Amino acid sequence: MTAINAVTDLTLDGEVAVITLNSPPVNALSAAVRQGLFEGFKAAIADPAAKAIVLICEGRTFIAGADITEFGSAMADPQLADVQDMMESSTKPVVAAIHGTVLGGGLEVALCAHYRVAVPSAKFGLPEVNLGLLPGAGGTQRLPRVVGPERALEMMTSGRHVPAKEALSGGLTDELVEEGKLKEGAIAFARKVAAENRPLTKIRDQNAKVEAARGKPEIFADFRKANARKFRGFLAPEYNIKCIEAAVNLPFDEGMKVERKLFNELMAGSQSAAQRYTFFAERQAQKIPGIADDTPLIPIKKVGVIGAGTMGGGIAMNFANAGIPVVIVEQKQEPLDKGLAIIRKNYERTASRGGITAAQVEERCALITGSLSMEESFADLDLVIEAVFERMDIKKDIFAKLDAICKPGAILATNTSGLNIDEIASVTKRPESVIGLHFFSPANVMKLLEIVRADHTSDSVIATSMKLAKQIGKTAVLVGVCPGFVGNRILGQRQREAQKLVMEGAMPWDIDRVLYDFGFPMGPFAMSDLAGLDIGWVKEKSNGESIRDVLCEADRRGQKTGAGYYDYDENRNAKPSPFTEKVINDFIVKSGANPRKISDEEILERCIFPMINEGVKILEEKKAIRSSDIDVVWQNGYGWPVYRGGPMWYGDQVGPDKVLAKMQEFQAKMGDAFKPSPLLEKLVADGKKFSDL
Ligand code: 3HC
Repeated sequence: MTAINAVTDLTLDGEVAVITLNSPPVNALSAAVRQGLFEGFKAAIADPAAKAIVLICEGRTFIAGADITEFGSAMADPQLADVQDMMESSTKPVVAAIHGTVLGGGLEVALCAHYRVAVPSAKFGLPEVNLGLLPGAGGTQRLPRVVGPERALEMMTSGRHVPAKEALSGGLTDELVEEGKLKEGAIAFARKVAAENRPLTKIRDQNAKVEAARGKPEIFADFRKANARKFRGFLAPEYNIKCIEAAVNLPFDEGMKVERKLFNELMAGSQSAAQRYTFFAERQAQKIPGIADDTPLIPIKKVGVIGAGTMGGGIAMNFANAGIPVVIVEQKQEPLDKGLAIIRKNYERTASRGGITAAQVEERCALITGSLSMEESFADLDLVIEAVFERMDIKKDIFAKLDAICKPGAILATNTSGLNIDEIASVTKRPESVIGLHFFSPANVMKLLEIVRADHTSDSVIATSMKLAKQIGKTAVLVGVCPGFVGNRILGQRQREAQKLVMEGAMPWDIDRVLYDFGFPMGPFAMSDLAGLDIGWVKEKSNGESIRDVLCEADRRGQKTGAGYYDYDENRNAKPSPFTEKVINDFIVKSGANPRKISDEEILERCIFPMINEGVKILEEKKAIRSSDIDVVWQNGYGWPVYRGGPMWYGDQVGPDKVLAKMQEFQAKMGDAFKPSPLLEKLVADGKKFSDL
């Protein structure tokens, strides 16, 4: 064995040279990896004893992409293109041996090998789009030549990880070898290729699939149209599409020039900066200072959920999806049956769209059972999540019962969206086992999980909850107990201002439009119409005191009744409503206010800057660990546009000094709702950024 450098070595197995990379955690293409590959291939090509070359990686994965930490600064030589040229022009067959995830630059390297073999568990993808980028090492030109432009469009604009079996049928890999026997399989394959003198296939020269799409611009037009809603606001999907168009219409080298130019533009732009920040923010959120890596975890083999409503059912589905049995408890048979039927319907809908198979529907439904008795069903559970009505007395009653029923060490969780968890924990003799697991509706879809640490929650319960969140596919953020926790507390600021703006002369659709154009999927009023204006509205007590009262009294209770703040047609398309406008104007007249024309800029600043200020207060009170955690909450739970990073990241782009100045200006005009947090004032005085918090 020859050590090429600290992360690469070269061995000879008979007449096959094997280059092995070992650069944990994911063999990203750092300067050392590029250098190891360059020197490794140079030596293997020069070695007369080697007839073929295998590239393989140690650890959990083949190369998972460029080293994202290197982005933004000049890359040291050798460049990745130098490595790729050497591989592609090698006079000896090069075989990439793939396991784990072969992503981004990793796949682009593999596509410069003449052949690829993979184990069945391997996954292939070009996920650059999720970093606001496009594959910048020839992937945009090579992938369409392998899988055709249609598949390339789907893969590159979604970043999807394609399973090995599909990769085999699509031509991304030439052979699958037995799991756990990658090295032997790849060497045998390389030996065969050399012995049979198979051609040294260069993907760059394979033009059949791209030529077949030439003169068919509708492929791209249709794709753009079908995905317009999904791509709205994002630059990277369109840039990826343009590169695939170039692959179809231009010779390889010309297409590469288009790729380089567009890659550089994206890399220099604000969207990719925000999306790269997001990548690390999400990983950072998993790290909890003060909780050691070796904190003992509680094995979670069976879970209980209290409440078969929308929330309880959605929560249960998460565990069934991960193969963990769940028992749902309700007080009466009818709501229990209804809840279980809705779960089945949800799974069947997913199956009808091709998301899961019919067999999976049955498997998952079989994992979810119903019960009418906590006493009978909860004694052996490892985790119970309460998802009942938001009333402290009811929750306390349930937790006292759980304390008596559940086995020692079981985690007792509440899905409350804002009640005081310390108070809930106080009725148990084991507050160390009590935690908040705040799912977002619909709980089987929304990525965010706010994990709420109460005063006495043990490290073990926190560490287990964080790990479990990952297992069930959630993005978890650890927060502290305060009204509304992190997400809803910040939302409260936006809601308050939206309501105030309406009373000052902005119509709901003006406010919604500004926030929609900013990148939210919808504004607060459209959101109310979707959720139902009558949530928390009591008909008998309604006395026309608020705009909402009047709308609900007129049976304008949102989309479900065909009208709310907006009027809806039969396809649920929203139109500004003259009725709502009159109701609002009547309220303004009654209040004696003078409506005025409010600029889009003011609407945006009034809605967003108080959110940032609240984020600072949350950090000041230590209810969130770091500023980027707040951004993770808002992206994953409230539709904050990913390409704008999150409220705190956005605040840094605007400039903390400008945020402070505006808050002071608003405070002077409109009162203490805008009072800047002392920490914001200090931050500006110290010349620091929100991300420093
Ligand atoms: N560069 C630098 N660090 C990376 C990295 C990368 N490409 N990919 C992962 N890491 C780091 C993570 O930050 C994390 O570090 P930490 O432990 O200090 O927090 C560590 O590796 C492990 O990552 P995960 O926690 O995400 O581990 P998982 O096992 O859950 O997932 C993975 C592994 C699927 C590879 C996932 O990390 C991932 O999706 N990585 C990014 C893949 C990617 O986007 N590749 C394209 C990069 S851009 C590119 O290649 C441009 C090219 O076209 C020129």
